Amino acid sequence: MKKFYSIAIDGPAASGKSTAAKGVAKRLHFLYIDTGAMYRAFTYHMLENNLEPKSEEDAKTLLPSLSLKEDKEGHIYLNGKDVSSEVRSLEVTNNVSYACAHLSVREKLVALQQEMAKSENVVMDGRDIGTVVLPEADLKIYQIASVDARAKRRCDEFVSQGLKVTYEEIKQDLIRRDYIDSHREHSPLKPAADAIVLDTSFMSIEEEIEAIIKLFYKKVGDLWNNTEK
Ligand code: DC
Repeated sequence: MKKFYSIAIDGPAASGKSTAAKGVAKRLHFLYIDTGAMYRAFTYHMLENNLEPKSEEDAKTLLPSLSLKEDKEGHIYLNGKDVSSEVRSLEVTNNVSYACAHLSVREKLVALQQEMAKSENVVMDGRDIGTVVLPEADLKIYQIASVDARAKRRCDEFVSQGLKVTYEEIKQDLIRRDYIDSHREHSPLKPAADAIVLDTSFMSIEEEIEAIIKLFYKKVGDLWNNTEK
């Protein structure tokens, strides 16, 4: 049976995971899967149906008919509709930590994520990829950066989009989300025992990508070189 390779990248909000993961996926010709976008899309779905993200009972009403797909261009589709820009709204960002904490939501989305990795080489980023979604991943990275470095990156991103936000607001929001994500009961944010911790506070995106690719080659070595691509 053909082996499919997987790279798991976990870490706190705005640690640069998705930019690095996208770059690594592009260089290795792997599929990039943004699991945060899936939790965001589900949160958007709850809000558009006037449901309460903190209520698991409400969440459960949407799970049976839920379909989430990501394409190679990085778009996310909720029940067939492209919601890539909607999932980045402030309202979704403010509520996603609640919707994603329910066990039933996590079980459904983890199953979808595992299915996606069955037939493709993938780079997947999130909070529980190395610990829960792909415990057998070929390489696990736990990407961190100081809260100041992360707040600055997010602030620059928002300002370049013309959004009015202050550095302090962003920093407080990151601290709040990190706390909720790492203290929740189900699949809290934490490094897998065999993850390699990568501190990117003083690294450029190119350096991050390069470092992850080097670690991947070091880890899988000849196995990868002899794989039919
Ligand atoms: O990476 P992000 O900021 O887009 O993630 C949005 C939220 O989803 C974040 O609060 C944590 C949650 N999340 C999660 O619980 N598990 C994942 N695998 C990915 C994201």
